Amino acid sequence: METKLTRLVAEAAICIKSGGVVAFPTETVYGLGADAFNAEAVAKIFEAKRRPGDNPLIAHVGSMDEIGSLADDVNPTAKLLIERFFPGPLTLVLAKSHRVPDAATAGLETIGVRMPASELANDFLRTCGVPVVAPSANLSGRPSPTTWQDVYEDLNGRIECILQGEATDIGLESTVVDCTTDTPFVLRAGAVSLESLRAVVPFTQIYRADDHAAPRSPGMRHKHYAPAAEVVIVDAGFEIPGQEAAGYIGMARANGSTGLEKLCDSVEEYARSLFAFFRECDRMKIRRIYCERVDEEGIGAALMDRLRRAEVR
Ligand code: TXA
Ligand code: MG
Repeated sequence: METKLTRLVAEAAICIKSGGVVAFPTETVYGLGADAFNAEAVAKIFEAKRRPGDNPLIAHVGSMDEIGSLADDVNPTAKLLIERFFPGPLTLVLAKSHRVPDAATAGLETIGVRMPASELANDFLRTCGVPVVAPSANLSGRPSPTTWQDVYEDLNGRIECILQGEATDIGLESTVVDCTTDTPFVLRAGAVSLESLRAVVPFTQIYRADDHAAPRSPGMRHKHYAPAAEVVIVDAGFEIPGQEAAGYIGMARANGSTGLEKLCDSVEEYARSLFAFFRECDRMKIRRIYCERVDEEGIGAALMDRLRRAEVR
């Protein structure tokens, strides 16, 4: 299959409407989208990125009206979070409507819903005129793509189209919050922090898999966000051992020489740069990447979550 590269929203939207799979930018990471109500198109997403069939997708909407076509019940807690955080880097898990094909939600009775804030994503979704289900646009197991070139590296020849936009602003995936019960549970940390969620719904909790019988976020079972290199989390001022041509990313300079180093001015820049840095290290065949630990507040909590997931082998 030839993958069309385009900067035109209309061209990308036509692809969606004709049952194709299209990668598009959002403010978090690039997504790999298909018409949420077209089961055949949805199946192509799993095939293209070799995603396990038990991992549900997030439905992206361009308008508030579309939420009603995806979710049967938007409870008062969910309404509060929608009012405060949509559009933005927040996904809410809601009871799904029967119209959504099982393939999109891996057979679950719930669906993740998100309204991206990025202007290009919004324009694209409105032009599609249907909700677009999309996981991150990487091959399963690789770091999420933050540029269209990252998408191209993984999926050229496997998808119909890439909508070319800028590098993504946030660089880490959305915060996922389960709103199907009275108490909202954070399933995945993201740019919408626990502190800011609690400012709206004070009793919001962090979901811990071992506290509960059934895992609520199937995707968190799978290995995620990892480069081929070994990831090691270190403290500021860490001394890089010997002659090793290692990678280093952080805000404080490391001691010793590296094969590739990325120094960031802020936690935000660190989060924005992480996945691209992982990919760059892989291209350079770097075998170990040292990543500086950060405070777990604001986006720092999401950054540490991704680093810990990448560190597990
Ligand atoms: O920022 C993002 O969320 C990006 C952009 C493209 O929107 N998307 C993204 O999708 O990161 P993905 O598929 O890579 O990650 C979605 C996560 C997975 O861990 C999945 O298991 C979880 O959300 N998820 C999706 N639907 C769910 C549901 N109904 N119940 C529980 N967890 C769900
Ligand atoms: Mg993903």
